[in-house]
Amino acid sequence: MNAPAKTEDFAIKIPDGVYAETVLSVEHYTDHLFRFRMTRPAGFRFRSGEFAMIGLMVGEKPIYRAYSIASPAWDEELEFFSIKVPDGPLTSHLQAIKPGDTVLMRKKPTGTLVLDALTPGKRLYMFSTGTGIAPFASLIRDPETYEKFEEVILTHTCRDVAELKYGFDLVEEIRNHEFLNEIVGDKLKHYATVTREDYPFKGRITTLIENGKLFADLGVPALDPEIDRGMICGSSAMLKDTKELLEKAGLNEGANNKPAEFVIERAFVG
Ligand code: A2P
Repeated sequence: MNAPAKTEDFAIKIPDGVYAETVLSVEHYTDHLFRFRMTRPAGFRFRSGEFAMIGLMVGEKPIYRAYSIASPAWDEELEFFSIKVPDGPLTSHLQAIKPGDTVLMRKKPTGTLVLDALTPGKRLYMFSTGTGIAPFASLIRDPETYEKFEEVILTHTCRDVAELKYGFDLVEEIRNHEFLNEIVGDKLKHYATVTREDYPFKGRITTLIENGKLFADLGVPALDPEIDRGMICGSSAMLKDTKELLEKAGLNEGANNKPAEFVIERAFVG
């Protein structure tokens, strides 16, 4: 065991071999969604789009869940976007964290939603639902994404408009960021839709791909395996259905050791 870390009024024991980081800020979006930022360990390296195991001591025991790192690889802090599950073993506790609290992180990041897993292309689609936007929050803030692609299209679909706010804030942040805004220019397009509330842009992303509305709204041609690349992050059902549509358009699924036209990863819950 390492030395106990002081939190507000009690000392907790930190397990060996994990980072113990300090929460810097917490922002709640809805009853179900929040983001937090914490310190980044000096030796911690990751590729934008990867995930890490994040944990808390619950009683005597650490509880970990996979979380996409939402901040880009160059950022001095780490950001995470999380769901709040009332009975969730981790999130029922994690949703109560405050600046100054300690969050655990296992040392090795991993994941398939990385630029290296895609073959060169011109247009990169990032298809997300719910907290599946998190790895893309990292990638859209990474200059390498714009070095590799001429156009980057982030789609985000949620049940309600309030759940889209994190994505809108992200794009706004990029626009207000001196050096990122210059790099991103007009290459980034943000396409946000909802499925259970009135809004100018409505419908599941799968429906909007199938009926062509996505492409018509964006003013781009239909999916083309020569030009388009994809990354998908959402529920298992969303991954399956979106993957089928990309395959139908002639794109093949890739991996770290076998780059191809698209990659997928389940958005983490709990
Ligand atoms: P819907 O409201 O029609 O179910 P969830 O919170 O259940 O993960 O859903 C997040 C968003 O993903 C919702 O807008 C939901 O639409 C949509 N969604 C759920 N399942 C699929 C699927 N199989 N394909 C595409 N989108 C989906």
